[in-house]
Amino acid sequence: MDRIELSKAKSFKGTFSATPDKSISHRSVIFSSLAKGKSVIKNFLRAEDTISSINAMRMLGVEITEVRSQKSEVTPSTQPSPSMGESKGGGESSKLQAPSSELVINGNGIYGLKEPCNVIDCGNSGTTIRMLSGILSGNPFFSVLTGDESLRTRPMGRVITPLRQMGAEIIARGENKYPPIAIKGKKMQPIKYASPVASAQVKSAILLAGLYADGETEIIEPAKSRDHTERMLPAFGAEIKVDGLRVRIRGGTELKGTEVYVPGDFSSAAFFIIGALLIKDSDITISGVGINPTRTGLLSALKEMGADIELYNIRNLSGEPVADIHCKGGSDLKAINITKEKIPALVDEFPVLCVAATQATGTTTIRGAEELRVKESDRIKTMATELKKMGAEIEEFDDGLSIHGKSSLKGVSIESYGDHRIAMAMSIAGLIADGTTTIHGVSSVNISFPGFFEILRRLTK
Ligand code: S3P
Repeated sequence: MDRIELSKAKSFKGTFSATPDKSISHRSVIFSSLAKGKSVIKNFLRAEDTISSINAMRMLGVEITEVRSQKSEVTPSTQPSPSMGESKGGGESSKLQAPSSELVINGNGIYGLKEPCNVIDCGNSGTTIRMLSGILSGNPFFSVLTGDESLRTRPMGRVITPLRQMGAEIIARGENKYPPIAIKGKKMQPIKYASPVASAQVKSAILLAGLYADGETEIIEPAKSRDHTERMLPAFGAEIKVDGLRVRIRGGTELKGTEVYVPGDFSSAAFFIIGALLIKDSDITISGVGINPTRTGLLSALKEMGADIELYNIRNLSGEPVADIHCKGGSDLKAINITKEKIPALVDEFPVLCVAATQATGTTTIRGAEELRVKESDRIKTMATELKKMGAEIEEFDDGLSIHGKSSLKGVSIESYGDHRIAMAMSIAGLIADGTTTIHGVSSVNISFPGFFEILRRLTK
C-alpha cells in the first residue's frame, strides 16, 4: 500500500531551499546532450521525470555522469509530526532522496546522436516525449517513444502535426494521437506555425526541430507559455528571436557546451506557499525560487485574493529570475475570477489553487482551463471529485470549475490517480481538514518532488 495519513496542522513554520525546477532540469540535460563538448548542470532535479530525460539521452548515445549531492536540504525527522502519520509501504518518507545532483554531459553536437537500439521509455514525462519528438524528427534514424499508462493517453497530435509539416515521418497509436510514437527522421524544412495551444512543450518541440532546418522556423502561440527554452538555448549558441508571442530559431547552428545552474521550482514551492497561507499561525521562507513571469501567475492570483506574500533578494541565475519567498498565514482570502489568458502562467498550480479557493470567501471561477483535462490526470475532474469528497462545494464545466468558499473540509480517503500534483495538493487539503485524511498513491510525488513529505513533516507543527 502506498499512502499517507494527515491531520489538521496548527502551523507551518520554517525556512528551506526550493527543490530544483523540473522544466529547466529537463531542458538542461536535453540541450547539453545536443551541444558539442562538456556541459555542467548544477542543482539538477533528481526526480523520476527528469531521470526519464537522462535515460532517453543516454539511449541516444550521450555520455552523462551524475554526481549525487550528499547534502540534502531536508533533515529527516526521527519522530512523525503530530499532523502526519507514518506513510505506509512504498510511501515517500521511507526513501528519502537527495533532491539535487550535478550532471556532467559530454555532447557530440546536434548531429551526434545514435539510433537507439530499443524503444525509449519517457515514463510519465510529457516534456521528455514532446521535446524528443522534435529532436528525433531531424535525425536520420528510426526511433520509438513511449511512456507509462498516463503518458500513453496524452495528446501527441499537437506535436505530430507541425513536425509532419516540417517533413518528418511520424506515426502514432490511435490514428496518430497517442504514444507509442514511431519516428523516421528526415531533413527538416522550416515552417511558420500558429499553434492552436499555448504549450511550451509544443513550442520547444518545434524550436528543436528547427535546429535541423535550413533557414528560420517560427512558432506563434495563442498566449505566452513558459519561456525556459528561449532563455536557455541561446546560452548554448542557438540563434533565437522573441517578439511577443512569436519565437523564431535559425537552423544549422551548432550548439556548444556550457554551465547551467537550475533555479528552484515555483510549481513545487506553490504547495508550501498555499499551505502557509491556509494554516493560521504559519510563517515560512523558501529560498531560491524561480520567479519567471511565465510561471508565477499564481502569485498574482494569490495577491489579488489578499494573501500575505513577500519576495525579496531578487537575483538572476543562468538567465532566470529567482527570489526568496516569505509568506504568512491568517489573511482572509477572497474569491477571484481566473480567465483563459491567465491559465498558461499558472497551469501546473491549478490543483493547489483549487484547495486555496475552498478557503476563500465567495465563488472562485476558473475558466478556459481545458488543457488541465489532458495533464497527468484530468485535473479538472480529479480536483472536483476529491475536494467534493472532503465537503467542498464545486461546479464542474468543460473548461474549468467554480468553487464556493469557505468550506470546512473533512478528512476522508483520497485518491491521487497517480498524479504527483494531485497527491501534493490534496496533502495540503489534508492539513486543513478536520479528522484524518488518507491519501492513496503518494509515491507519485517522486515524479517531480522527492522529499516533499519530508519537508512537509519538518514544517508542520
Ligand atoms: C512544461 C510545460 C507545460 C507544463 C508541464 C511542463 C514544460 O505543459 O504543464 O508541467 O516543461 O515545458 P504544456 O506544454 O502541455 O502546457
